[in-house]
Amino acid sequence: MPPSDHPAAPGRTAAGPASAGRRPVGPAGPHPAAAAQDAGSGPPAADTGMPTVLSASAGPRTPGPLTSGPSEAAGPGPTGPAHPGPAHSGPASGPAGPGEPLLVAVGVRKSYRAGRSLGGRARVRAVDGVDLSVFAGETLGVVGESGCGKSTLARMLVGLERPDAGHVRYAGLDVATARGARRRELRRAVQMVFQDPLTSLNPRMPIIDVVAEPLDVHRLVRGAAARRDRVAELLEMVGLAPDMMRRFPHEFSGGQRQRIGIARALATEPRVIVCDEPVSALDVSVQAQVVNLLAELQQRLGIALVFIAHDLGVVRHVSHRVAVMYLGRVVELGPGAAVYREPAHPYTRALLSSVPVRHPSERGRPRIVLAGDPPSPVDPPAGCRFHTRCPIVQDVCRREEPVLRTPGGEAAETHVAACHFAGAPVLPTPAG
Ligand SMILES: Nc1ncnc2c1ncn2[C@@H]1O[C@H](COP(=O)(O)OP(=O)(O)O)[C@@H](O)[C@H]1O
Ligand code: SF4
Ligand SMILES: [Mg+2]
Repeated sequence: MPPSDHPAAPGRTAAGPASAGRRPVGPAGPHPAAAAQDAGSGPPAADTGMPTVLSASAGPRTPGPLTSGPSEAAGPGPTGPAHPGPAHSGPASGPAGPGEPLLVAVGVRKSYRAGRSLGGRARVRAVDGVDLSVFAGETLGVVGESGCGKSTLARMLVGLERPDAGHVRYAGLDVATARGARRRELRRAVQMVFQDPLTSLNPRMPIIDVVAEPLDVHRLVRGAAARRDRVAELLEMVGLAPDMMRRFPHEFSGGQRQRIGIARALATEPRVIVCDEPVSALDVSVQAQVVNLLAELQQRLGIALVFIAHDLGVVRHVSHRVAVMYLGRVVELGPGAAVYREPAHPYTRALLSSVPVRHPSERGRPRIVLAGDPPSPVDPPAGCRFHTRCPIVQDVCRREEPVLRTPGGEAAETHVAACHFAGAPVLPTPAG
């Protein structure tokens, strides 16, 4: 499907230059987020530089407190009706209820032609076999170092890129091949928020047109007054004053521009929003505000969020489940609390060890500094892809590729890791 068909695609519409089922892997079981709740294993209290915000996986879906400190938003808080009034049409349809995955990626792969320096025929294996499900109303954090394939996966999830192999389905529809009314429905239901709010908003469009563009594309409002009212409502939902709608993107701060991007994504009343590093380009002081806004909207509207970040500290407070990616693959997936408390993959342990710790149960974790950069995705290492950097590598790791399997522990049903020694009572010492 060409990117230009997606109303969120910057290249197509409001934006200027592009900035751009099955259960989760592992044994069948209850909704993973529900399982985490049953185990009483919500994300631990804040223990990073990020202000405490939400206990997203514990208890009923009530909005958590917003962050303290001065807000960038120049209007009322992110309040407003969860469901808009009759001036526009109802929410995008799709499967409902816990236990049903909304969006399912099965065996997706995507490669690109490598640069000339690597030879004309070489291919970068950006995403190299990923299975992932996104459930209604959950926040799925996706983390990994730069270049591990997060953005490529995000683009495939929303239909901006077609997988070379495998497929992505929303409500049973293949997002890459659906046509006509079904494609329009998909475009409404699955939206994207981009990393860089400046390049993803058309500098020549006033905010009213930026935010209303998906309304126009999908014919969700009739008449100028209804259009304006809906944009005002959307701006209020993201904590911006409605009278800002006549201004242009350059008149806003980075955090405000990302709020505008979120308002635009909300315009179609989507069921899923894929947020590709939505706070990475923002000042640290503003990041928590935008993370909190997304978490609050997710809870209040029951939207599923895919929250992509390169830093585990950013997603840990808001993710029901976390997927850790390395070199085009998911190497660990599980309830956020289980992944944080009992990381089963040495790469996850290394990522976690670089997150500042305040929670007593996590003190004493050894600091793991990974040697070198990730290997080239043009020619990933044989066996375990992580073996060239793994602090506990064994001979078997160089020969045999580990599959995702449960390491045991409190979330054994839904927690999987791709390591030969995941869940081993005693970790091996490095071999040769
Ligand atoms: N359009 C493209 N053309 C060529 N290579 C690409 C393209 N998009 C991504 N890549 C390469 O694919 C790999 C994964 O990129 P990306 O998905 O952007 O990772 P991340 O978002 O985790 O940083 C990187 O090596 C990147 O250089
Ligand atoms: S399989 Fe081996 S190299 Fe890979 S993460 Fe596990 S211990 Fe490390
Ligand atoms: Mg990226």
